[in-house]
Amino acid sequence: MTLPPLPGPLPAFPPGFLWGVSASAFQTEGAATRDGRGPSGWDEFAAQPGRIKDGSDGSLGTGFYDRYREDVALLAGLGAGAFRFSVSWPRVVPDGSGAVNPAGLDFYDRLVDELCAHGIAPVPTLYHWDTPLPLERAGGWLNRDTAHRFADYASTVAERLADRVPMWITINEPAEVTLLGYALGEHAPGRKLLFDALPAAHHQLLAHGLAVRALRAATAAEIGIAVSHSPVRTAGDTEEDRFGAELYDSVYNWLFADPLLTGAYPDENFAALMPGPVAEDLKVISSPLDWYGVNYYNPTLVGAPAPEALDSFAGFDMPGELPFGIRQIEGYEMTDFGWPVVPEGLRDMLVGLKDRFGDRLPPIRITENGCGYDGIEDTRRIAFIDGHLRALHAAMADGIDVRAYFIWSLTDNLEWIEGYGQRFGLVHVDHPTMRRTPKDSYRWYRDVIRAQHGLSRPTAG
Ligand code: FCB
Repeated sequence: MTLPPLPGPLPAFPPGFLWGVSASAFQTEGAATRDGRGPSGWDEFAAQPGRIKDGSDGSLGTGFYDRYREDVALLAGLGAGAFRFSVSWPRVVPDGSGAVNPAGLDFYDRLVDELCAHGIAPVPTLYHWDTPLPLERAGGWLNRDTAHRFADYASTVAERLADRVPMWITINEPAEVTLLGYALGEHAPGRKLLFDALPAAHHQLLAHGLAVRALRAATAAEIGIAVSHSPVRTAGDTEEDRFGAELYDSVYNWLFADPLLTGAYPDENFAALMPGPVAEDLKVISSPLDWYGVNYYNPTLVGAPAPEALDSFAGFDMPGELPFGIRQIEGYEMTDFGWPVVPEGLRDMLVGLKDRFGDRLPPIRITENGCGYDGIEDTRRIAFIDGHLRALHAAMADGIDVRAYFIWSLTDNLEWIEGYGQRFGLVHVDHPTMRRTPKDSYRWYRDVIRAQHGLSRPTAG
């Protein structure tokens, strides 16, 4: 397929803007039973027949546990300024509470050293969905105790790594965990609780707030969180369509951002459905953040519940019992994953965040953006990233303070329920030999980073 040429070099981003790449533990590490790692809820879920499309599980990942040096060399070849990885909670605290596994901490210690030795900032996420199995069995995020166990674990990791880590992320995408894991049952732990899943949102937020305090106590540097955002477009013009779109917007975009940044839920009705001493918890949840991470992939078209909407959103069932229905967005190119390519949605979302939160919005880092495309000559990935960087630059020209951009992902990895079928990497991985081959997009991103460093360097004289 031939694409129109890119519209020339990218505009200059500010000096100091950080060019990064993201990944997560469950999707890459493998070595699920090695060196004392305990099982996670995702291990158990993946082992159930039919959960992951190609039948794969987390036992192999991309072999990152053994090949991290090779991957750090790839990052260095890219000129990446930062690598966002996640720490596997069950590798560090195998039972989720109690004894710490020294070999688990040692792994992240080695990884951080390796990154630092190459001048790459290590940016750990403490929770990217792999809840230790004993905690999941005790209710997972439906159980308030999980939040306290998370704070203990955050302290443990920070005590070991805080001397070398410049930037922390507590939790990745609490909305996906709540919606896909507890409301719709598409992801681990496979619960289909619909609105009864809301306590999982509250307890993740509480876990975040407690972890912020634990990290500060351990003198951790800049603390943030990675929240997924998607500008919502209304399908249809009935009252039910508008209601559905607004409700989805609240549940997806504001249920997490509002408590974090304003200390209140978007609606009293949500607050009333949350467990525990909600008003006191909100004070913990809104503990000041140094920065706010945004994961952006595409906008969402939402209207009244509609049977034809089933299965249209990346394969996720939206059951009729929910008062909204997600529709396929038409009129845009689609990735091989079937997600629409809408770069201006990134700008819209950032402007929307600024409009909503004003001065309460901390500096932003784009913690994930990327696309699932096949092939090593991945011109369409290049066009995707180029378009999103232009949209990001435009948002920054509108006055939004964005300090970093992380591509999802370095390597083709285990894409949750899609298995190895969706390839988001700048580097192709041949599963299961795990041989890595940089794609065209890898070389393109390397050239972008080089050019940007040249552009941001003051000219002589
Ligand atoms: C995000 C996840 C990340 C990856 C991308 C494609 O929702 O945080 O792990 O799967 O989607």
